[in-house]
Amino acid sequence: MSRALAGVAFLSAAVGAAADGGTAESPSRGALVRFHTACASCHVAECSGRLSFDSGSAGARGHVKRYAPTANDAVVRELFSMLTSLKRTCQHALPAPPLLPRFDAAFLAEHFNPDASAWFVPLPARSRTGVVELDVGVGQHAEVSLLDDSLETLVEVHGAGTLRLDAPASARPSFLLVRRAQSVSRLEVR
Ligand code: HEC
Repeated sequence: MSRALAGVAFLSAAVGAAADGGTAESPSRGALVRFHTACASCHVAECSGRLSFDSGSAGARGHVKRYAPTANDAVVRELFSMLTSLKRTCQHALPAPPLLPRFDAAFLAEHFNPDASAWFVPLPARSRTGVVELDVGVGQHAEVSLLDDSLETLVEVHGAGTLRLDAPASARPSFLLVRRAQSVSRLEVR
């Protein structure tokens, strides 16, 4: 009985800690997208536990805010716990793909980090090779990478307008990282 009560208390404390629905175990989509667009390039291979600021947590907070200036306090806390968990378990959390490979404007907006001007979009598993096609707007030279769930780059294209990537079959979700684009107005996986 007391064990069950303790479990419930822990759960509600974890939910209370992040106003937008994320917890240390399952961060919010917003925190995941921020992490993979603004932090992963430096932090993803880290699980040694060596990383630390001499200045303590105040210094670390300043550092996180530098790379996530518009993140609210709840998301900053989530980013901290994601990094702590990465260092402890050597595993990074990833956002879940949609059940069907349909990416409407709302879904794309949820996967955009304004501070990094970048998108991190989860794509469902595919039983056969396919094509990822997206419109990134003209004028800027966008960088688009398809990553596997270990965040290894599978394919990369650079350019403007309509971009296409050949996506290998994959039993697990993959992830599209879009940088230096003005917009992603359309994304299709065929
Ligand atoms: C350009 C590379 C780079 C980026 C981008 C970056 N970091 Fe860091 N981060 C570092 C380095 C290097 C350290 C270690 C500093 C030290 O050793 O004093 C660090 C340290 C930290 C620490 C302190 C860890 C500890 O145990 O004290 C946290 C927390 C952290 N980063 C979170 C983040 C988050 C969250 C983001 C994204 C919003 C981010 N970092 C983006 C390079 C980066």
